[in-house]
Amino acid sequence: MTPDRTQNSSASAPTELYKLRNKNGIEVGLLNYGATIANLITPDKEGRLDDICPGFADLQQYENNSFYFGGTIGRFANRIKHGTFTIDGKKYQLAANDGAHSLHGGVQGFDKHIWNAKESSAGHGSSVRFSRLSPDNEEGYPGNLDVKVTYTLTDDDELIIFYEAATDQPTVVNLTNHAYFNLAGKEGLDILHHEIRIHADYYTPADSELIPTGQLAKVQDTPMDFRSWKEIGARIQELGNSPRGYDHNYVLHKSPDKSALDLAAEAYEPASGRRLEVYTDQPGMQFYSGNFLNDSITGKNGRPCSQYGGFCLETQNFPDSPNQPTFPSAVLRPNEIYKSKTIYKFSTN
Ligand code: GLA
Repeated sequence: MTPDRTQNSSASAPTELYKLRNKNGIEVGLLNYGATIANLITPDKEGRLDDICPGFADLQQYENNSFYFGGTIGRFANRIKHGTFTIDGKKYQLAANDGAHSLHGGVQGFDKHIWNAKESSAGHGSSVRFSRLSPDNEEGYPGNLDVKVTYTLTDDDELIIFYEAATDQPTVVNLTNHAYFNLAGKEGLDILHHEIRIHADYYTPADSELIPTGQLAKVQDTPMDFRSWKEIGARIQELGNSPRGYDHNYVLHKSPDKSALDLAAEAYEPASGRRLEVYTDQPGMQFYSGNFLNDSITGKNGRPCSQYGGFCLETQNFPDSPNQPTFPSAVLRPNEIYKSKTIYKFSTN
C-alpha cells in the first residue's frame, strides 16, 4: 500500500502524481498541482475498474481553465459577495473573479498552486499530505495561512480528506474539494440518471448571481428535495436558473457533536451498480450538477466534458458566510486551528 510517485513536468511547473491503492483495486491519483484528485478508479458491480472522476488529461488544461476538476478549493470555497468582508471592524477586499464576486479563493485559488507533498502508509491506509503557506494578502485575504490537506485511502474503500489550517491574523477559511463524479465511468454520458439522496431539509436560496439571500428555505415540495432517492434529472427542468441545473448549498442534518461525521449524501448509478456515500463534519454541501461544463472542454478520455457530465458534492461552510451573521462563522483566529473532514466511501450493489 505504499504510494507511487510519478514525475511529470510542464512548461510552467514541475508536477508530481501520487498514487494511493488499496487491496480492493481502488486507486486514487493525486497531483501536487492544486492538491488535486486527478483520477479515481473504482470497481463496478462486476469488478471492472474504471475512472469515475471526469477531469483533464494534462496540466496546462488545469492551469488555463477554472472548472476546478478535483481541486482543493480555498482559502474560501464558494462565493463571497462583492469579494468583501469585515473582521473586527476592518474591511478586506478580495480579487473578483466571478462577476463582481469572489469565487473559490479568487483568480489563483488553492487549486492553482503547487503544494508540498509527503507520503506515508501508517495505520488504517496510505496517505499523501499536501501543505502550503498561503501568504498574507494572497488574493486579498489577511494573514499567513498554513494549510494541510491529507488524503488517506483505506482498505474499507474510503477516501478520507482531512483539512487543517492555522493563521497569524484573523481571516476566513472554508476548504473543500471540487471532484466531479460520474459513477458510470469514463464512457458515462450525463449524470441525469444517477439517483441521489441528500440529508437536508433546508437549503440556502440564492439570487441570480448565486449569492445567498441569508434565508433558509425548506426543500419540501421543491425540485431541491432529495430527502428520498430521486434521479438527478427528475425535476431539473423545473429549475429557473441559467445555465439550468443544481448549484445549491444544502443545510445538512448535523449531530449535536460538531465534529461528528454525519452522512450528507449518497449517489447510485444503476447500470454500473456504483454507489458513493459522503460523510462530513461540515454544516453545508454545494450540490452542483456540472451546469457550466460544455462541449468545448476536452476531457482526459479525449471526449468533451459536456454539460451534466459530472456532479460535485462540495462539503463546506455556507456560501458568503463572512457576510451573513446568521450562518455558521468562517472566521479563524490566531489561537485556533481549522479542522475539517470529509469521507467519500465507495461500494457497489
Ligand atoms: C462551483 C460553483 C459553480 C461553478 C463551479 C465551477 O461549484 O458553485 O457555480 O462556478 O464551481 O464551474
